[in-house]
Amino acid sequence: MLGADPAALATAADILRAGGLVAFPTETVFGLGADATSDAAVAKIYAAKGRPAFNPLIAHVATRAAAEQQGIFSPQATKLADAFWPGPLTLVLPLAAGASVCDLARAGLPSVALRIPSHPVAQQLLAAVGRPLAAPSANPSGRVSAVTAAHVRVDFDGRIDAIVDGSVEVGIESTIVGCLTDAPVLLRPGGIPRDAIEAVLGVKLRDAAAGAAINAPGMLEAHYAPRARLRLDATSLEADEAGLDFGGCFASGSNVLDLSSRGDLVEAAAHLFAYLRRLDEKHPKIAVAPIPSAGLGEAINDRLRRAAVGAA
Ligand code: TXA
Ligand code: MG
Repeated sequence: MLGADPAALATAADILRAGGLVAFPTETVFGLGADATSDAAVAKIYAAKGRPAFNPLIAHVATRAAAEQQGIFSPQATKLADAFWPGPLTLVLPLAAGASVCDLARAGLPSVALRIPSHPVAQQLLAAVGRPLAAPSANPSGRVSAVTAAHVRVDFDGRIDAIVDGSVEVGIESTIVGCLTDAPVLLRPGGIPRDAIEAVLGVKLRDAAAGAAINAPGMLEAHYAPRARLRLDATSLEADEAGLDFGGCFASGSNVLDLSSRGDLVEAAAHLFAYLRRLDEKHPKIAVAPIPSAGLGEAINDRLRRAAVGAA
């Protein structure tokens, strides 16, 4: 476990440049980082996560100049980068000539997913490494994303080289927008709401075609899965259920956690994965209160639907 002081980050950067795995905080969730230019380093991510090898990874970079070495920016991609970077937006772009993100990180695709995180620790680490970092969320494949260093340690103790401590802010992964044609596609709802992106673009986002050959995010249906059985859109609790509440819909009790008692979707996103984990540790059945689909609600509901499909 490393702190976030310059000496500790220099150690983390050395490990990464040598091909090791280091988990680190970003503003969305913890990432499990490896040198994105090294197939051997990236292979360790897939191994540690137990991740299907056809799922490409996001390459995190420190600067626009670094991003422009990896991907070809259309005018629309440039607008989005201007508006939302650094921050919880990932752009899928055609691969630039001379890009260094390795084949394995892209799962062999001629495109690359890029993000400049805003978290100061992530920024400093990227600057110290001086290379793009592949960093999927730091959880075993198909399980709830990690939002604390302690979660990462529970899941990966002994299987990765280091964890940089820190806290996340958004609590839900980045929004992924594909800019491979003139019509931008929402590949994964996430930390930046659809409306905000459409306002910048001046056009509606297309939705990723269901069953499209390439896996937008968790297009593996069962994703973000707790072990408990989830019942969505529940308006009251059965006797044997714990409750994941929103806006005080359920009667409060020791088995109920409210994502946001004041009905704030930003607060709810920040609590989502941690509360799911806490309930999942103790209860085989979880009822989830209805959550509006406006703003961050789209991403929250997306994660909950996947969690419900994937649950045992
Ligand atoms: O907030 C986040 O985005 C977190 C933090 C750590 O930055 N990272 C994250 O990465 O969620 P990951 O690997 O768990 O999610 C990457 C998603 C995958 O579902 C993948 O399908 C999609 O990005 N993706 C990556 N490259 C792609 C490409 N070339 N075309 C289409 N989808 C791509
Ligand atoms: Mg993930």
